[in-house]
Amino acid sequence: MQAGVDHHAIVKSLVWKDETATQLFAAALSAQAALRNCYIELHGELGAGKTTLVRHLLQALGVTGRVKSPTYSLLEPYQLTHTPSSPTPLQIWHFDFYRFNDPREWEDAGFRDIFASVGLKLAEWPDKAAAFVPRADLVLRIEVQPDNARQVQLVAQTPIGAELLAAISA
Ligand SMILES: Nc1ncnc2c1ncn2[C@@H]1O[C@H](COP(=O)(O)OP(=O)(O)OP(=O)(O)O)[C@@H](O)[C@H]1O
Ligand SMILES: [Mg+2]
Repeated sequence: MQAGVDHHAIVKSLVWKDETATQLFAAALSAQAALRNCYIELHGELGAGKTTLVRHLLQALGVTGRVKSPTYSLLEPYQLTHTPSSPTPLQIWHFDFYRFNDPREWEDAGFRDIFASVGLKLAEWPDKAAAFVPRADLVLRIEVQPDNARQVQLVAQTPIGAELLAAISA
């Protein structure tokens, strides 16, 4: 049992033995309709593989350009006219709150409006903006193992998260 996990939360554990495994997970996730309006948090140390997962997910969804790490910009937005699972547009926001330190920026940069918008919100280092981010639908905790594989814990915290998790085979 882990402290802080919602009593009703649904938890799954996975191992990504290499980056190809991360890519396969991203492909499976990209096919989920619930992804079109959700907030996913990515926890894990520097180099755990958070941006790598986002990159594979966005590519699986059809982003063709470079997927940059938003470490300095805090946010990289994407807009897809269609995705493999749907012909309707999809708005995506990839946050990295590692360097978030000015609370005023939350309002000024429009982050509040973004989290209130329909679309896919992904955040690295959400703890750095814990006072502002809403409750995530799905929380991923990525840990580097001694053999360089990634141990991943997935926690669904809402019905949307539960729907996403249900489609993921542990
Ligand atoms: N499943 C995996 N197995 C082995 N190596 C992986 C795996 N996933 C990612 N990697 C490698 O680990 C590194 C992860 O870097 P990445 O930028 O994704 O980390 P990050 O968690 O976003 O770090 P930061 O907190 O600095 O943003 C990359 O070099 C990537 O190739
Ligand atoms: Mg990163």
